[in-house]
Amino acid sequence: MILQKNARPNLDDMVSELQSMTEEDRELIGEYLKIEKCYRYALREMSARLENLDDNCSLHFAHNPIHHIESRVKTPAAIIEKIHRRGYPVTMEVLKEKIYDIAGMRVICNYINDIYQIVTMMKQQKDLKIKISKDYIRNPKPTGYRSLHIVFEMAIYVDNMQVYVPIEIQFRTIAMDMWASLEHELRYKSPGYEFSDEDKDNLKLYSDQLYQIDLSMQRMYITKIIEEEEND
Ligand code: GTP
Ligand code: MG
Repeated sequence: MILQKNARPNLDDMVSELQSMTEEDRELIGEYLKIEKCYRYALREMSARLENLDDNCSLHFAHNPIHHIESRVKTPAAIIEKIHRRGYPVTMEVLKEKIYDIAGMRVICNYINDIYQIVTMMKQQKDLKIKISKDYIRNPKPTGYRSLHIVFEMAIYVDNMQVYVPIEIQFRTIAMDMWASLEHELRYKSPGYEFSDEDKDNLKLYSDQLYQIDLSMQRMYITKIIEEEEND
């Protein structure tokens, strides 16, 4: 079963964030809110597609590659923060062309191979285009962060018009997600918090240990499948 978690922004937080923005930022957010539905619709369609892929794998291979899916639309404050952090002009063109993670998804898989299998199947879908691909599983970040990040461009229909919407998907195993969630929680617990060098080394070590466990569990799963096939 796939659990879909949709974190909705808190209204009070959004109001106070809007009040603390400049006039220029607020104008952009006003324009953005007119097209925000496109990102929500794209996430909904992508979720259905991934659930269908998972279902199909279950029918044919008696295995569900997806453990669960999480999705969210970036809050207006986070969009503005990213535009400023990157030094971009505050325009709709920038928002549409340069901010790829307004629609964001996490696909949490059971095994490492499941991630690449799902992506292979998605690549066969002609109406999905890959815009950016960053493989932090094969090339982990210096922090120890592992995930496969892919920005897909998805064609959807809104108000009877076809529009292309970017969706950033972070594919991870359960173990990678556990590490990223806890590391993020530790880092963002207090603003301006910096890990000591010892903490950094340990976090990297734990990430590597979890990766070894991922590989070992996967080997165990493959051995089981082979044994079952031989006994059939
Ligand atoms: P952003 O502007 O933050 O989106 O950075 P970017 O566009 O260069 O993307 P990047 O490929 O670095 O991925 C950014 C996202 O990946 C973050 O929003 C996190 O969700 C996740 N991420 C990247 N590095 C780390 C890390 O060291 N720890 C954790 N917990 N998450 C990370
Ligand atoms: Mg991002």
